[in-house]
Amino acid sequence: MKLYQMWLALMIAAAGVALGAPSATAQTIKIGFVTSYSGLNGNLGPYMERAVRLYMKQHEQDLPPGVSIELLVRDDTGPNPDKAKQLAQELIVRDKVTLLAGVIFTPNALAMAPLCTEAKVPFVIMNAGTSVITTRSPYIVRFSFTLWQSTYPLGQWATKRFKRAYTLVSDFGPGHDAEEAFTKAFKEGGGEIVGSVRVPVVNPDFAPYMQRVKDAKPDALMVFVPAGKTATAVMKNFADLGLDKAGVKLIGPGDITTDEELVNMGDVALGVLTVHHYSAAGDRAANKAFVAAWKKEYGANETPNFLSAASWDGMDAIYYAIREQHGKLDPDRTMELLKNYKSANSPRGPIAIDPATRDIVQNEYLREVRKVNGQLANVELETIATAVKDPWKEFNKK
Ligand code: PHB
Repeated sequence: MKLYQMWLALMIAAAGVALGAPSATAQTIKIGFVTSYSGLNGNLGPYMERAVRLYMKQHEQDLPPGVSIELLVRDDTGPNPDKAKQLAQELIVRDKVTLLAGVIFTPNALAMAPLCTEAKVPFVIMNAGTSVITTRSPYIVRFSFTLWQSTYPLGQWATKRFKRAYTLVSDFGPGHDAEEAFTKAFKEGGGEIVGSVRVPVVNPDFAPYMQRVKDAKPDALMVFVPAGKTATAVMKNFADLGLDKAGVKLIGPGDITTDEELVNMGDVALGVLTVHHYSAAGDRAANKAFVAAWKKEYGANETPNFLSAASWDGMDAIYYAIREQHGKLDPDRTMELLKNYKSANSPRGPIAIDPATRDIVQNEYLREVRKVNGQLANVELETIATAVKDPWKEFNKK
């Protein structure tokens, strides 16, 4: 090295020290966190982000010394695959994130999948629930659910109570899965599907569909729409058109009685029966602690929902992968750890990732909307299926 080069190197090193550059051992792990803060049900993004931040606050001491996490938060603006793809590209190429996480909507997750494969960036899904998603990249692991997981057992249970059912679903991946899973189980159990309708994902006018359902006189109407404000719209239209008074029972996956919207739905939601893996009213000790911590942090009238629970568990798995690698993450080793993750103590009960599919294995609960201490809640009546693997993948095993 020539003298001036040595001088230059020294100056650069000195500048680094002066600017407080991190020591050789310090590690910042960047997580590109993509969810919806605007567009359809854009109020749901904060239910995920708040869970992630609460987890980080409570578990700072669980990271290896010198390791910190930087969350790069991005708004995908609702079901918008082009936007999601662009955000993932920027996060990977420009921001050089180690992991991607979040994502409410299936079309967005599908658009991001090939980028994860190409760049070898593990992607921790915290909502999007269409079964096929995890097959689109070996770098995807899902901590939320599949629609098959809730609506297949729902269909099995429903045949014990109803003979004739109608299905109404949003016309995209998770809706198609819910319709197919429920129909299969209900028919296998001897039930009859008297009508099926798919409605637009964004801004559907439910009234004409509800009228058609009413005219068909089913015993039950099985609905899947995205959780959030869309579910509240369904609930109101169902009651406005008098389907409850006509003797039609509203049933579905827990998306239609999402915990945070019960207060906006009001008493029309009373008696709605759903199957799901998480309820804020679940009386497991880990859930009580989770809900109490949430209220302490965000206010007594605030409640987490199933998107919060998945985000919480996803973070627990990320922290586990970080600890096991002492803060230096290799994508393939990270995937190995994530896909073998297990917890006996999730707010939703025992969970595990199925290493063969990278999808979550969890219990499904039958719930009814009831009043508890004057407030509407998804009261868990029974565990109707334990350690459920994604049924779609089980039925489609090669
Ligand atoms: C999805 O797009 O996969 C999705 C969206 C909202 C839900 C469930 C699934 O409530």
